[in-house]
Amino acid sequence: MKIAIGCDHGGIVLKDAVIRAITETGMEYVDYGTFTEESVDYPDYAEKVGRAVASGEADRGVLMCGTGIGISIAANKIKGIRCAHVTDAFQAEMCRQHNDANIIAMGGRINSPEDAYEFTKIFLTTPFAGGRHLRRVEKIAALEK
Ligand code: RB5
Repeated sequence: MKIAIGCDHGGIVLKDAVIRAITETGMEYVDYGTFTEESVDYPDYAEKVGRAVASGEADRGVLMCGTGIGISIAANKIKGIRCAHVTDAFQAEMCRQHNDANIIAMGGRINSPEDAYEFTKIFLTTPFAGGRHLRRVEKIAALEK
């Protein structure tokens, strides 16, 4: 699988841990930036990663900002994106099993790099449960019409 990653200056502290989780899982990644701690606008990175995932250029995405909130709100404006803002391992698991999330968002001012490593690994390796959850995810998609 190919994973698109993106962050702003508030999330860059998590980037190395996320890359380590992706590569150790045997997956590839494309880094859409940012690449320095200079202040940038998180919607720009949400857009790059969200469009890569929505178009099929990438299979999934990982986004990081200060809290994970702004960048997830922005990503969820893109049709086809189900971005889950996760702050613990249970949420990382459930967003895949129940919501078929295709992007997770995390906060560099909320969670540690160790947390981000763990949440990313869970997000990348947990399958969607389907069944009744598929019906619900289809209803989310219907809201986009
Ligand atoms: C940037 O200072 C900060 O607002 C951003 O990283 C994020 O936390 C927004 O939700």
